[in-house]
Amino acid sequence: MVTDSQQGTRIDEIAPDIYRIHTPVQLPGGQAFSFNQYLLVDDDALLFHTGPRKMFPLVSEAIARVLPLQRLRWIGLSHVEADECGAMNEFLAAAPQATPLCGQVAALVSVNDLADRPAHALADGETLSLGRHAVRWFDTPHTPHGWECGLMLDTTTRTFFCGDLFTQPGTGDLPLCESDILGPSEAFRQAMDYFAHAPQTATTLQRLADQMPHTLACMHGSAWHGDAGALLRALATRLTAPASEAAAQG
Ligand SMILES: [Fe+2]
Ligand SMILES: [Fe+2]
Repeated sequence: MVTDSQQGTRIDEIAPDIYRIHTPVQLPGGQAFSFNQYLLVDDDALLFHTGPRKMFPLVSEAIARVLPLQRLRWIGLSHVEADECGAMNEFLAAAPQATPLCGQVAALVSVNDLADRPAHALADGETLSLGRHAVRWFDTPHTPHGWECGLMLDTTTRTFFCGDLFTQPGTGDLPLCESDILGPSEAFRQAMDYFAHAPQTATTLQRLADQMPHTLACMHGSAWHGDAGALLRALATRLTAPASEAAAQG
C-alpha cells in the first residue's frame, strides 16, 4: 500500500504480522537507493529501525495505516547510525510506552545518552516475548558495522531482521522477492566497501545461518524469502574469499 505518493513510501506485509515500510531515495550523484524499517504487530508492537530523523513524517504516516503510533512498545536498532535510529526521540515522543531496544554495548556506549529514555539492553542470545511472537538478539560486532552491532530474529516466523546485510542498490520496489539478492548486494559492497573488515565475520554469519531463517528483512532493497541460512553461508564465503577470487566472482 502506497502511503506517500510523492516520495513513494509504502507499507506491505512480508511475513505474518511483519510489515516492511519502504522509501526510495536518490543518493548524492543520482544513484537510486532505499530505506526500509520493519513493524512487527503484536501485543507489544516492535519497530526495527526508525529511518533517518528527516524521514519521520513518512515512516510514522505509514505505520499509522497499520496501527496507532501510541501502540509501539519497542524501538529496536542494530547499531547507531542515522538510518537505524535517527528518529528515535521522535518515536519516543509519539509513543509514550515505547522503549529503545538494542544490545548491551549500544546501550552503554550510545543509546542511553542519545535517547530520551533509557534503553532495554538485550544480552547475546536473549529472547524477548512480544505476545504471539518472540525475538532473539544476536551480538554481531562489526558485522557489518560498528562494535555495538547486533541483529534479531523473530523466532515465530523465522524472519531475520538482517539490517545492512544484503544491502541492495536501486529502488527496491518489490516488498518481498525470491530472486538473487546476493549478487547485487555483493556488487554494491565491492563498489562502496561498506563492511567492517573483522576477523570473526564468517563465524558470526555461520552462527546466524544456524538459526535457519526463512525470510530476510533487509534494510535496503527487497526483503527475501527462501533458504536464508544457505544465503548467509554464501555471504560468509564471499566475504572470506581472497581478493583475486572475489574480483572474479564480482
Ligand atoms: Fe548501518
Ligand atoms: Fe542501513
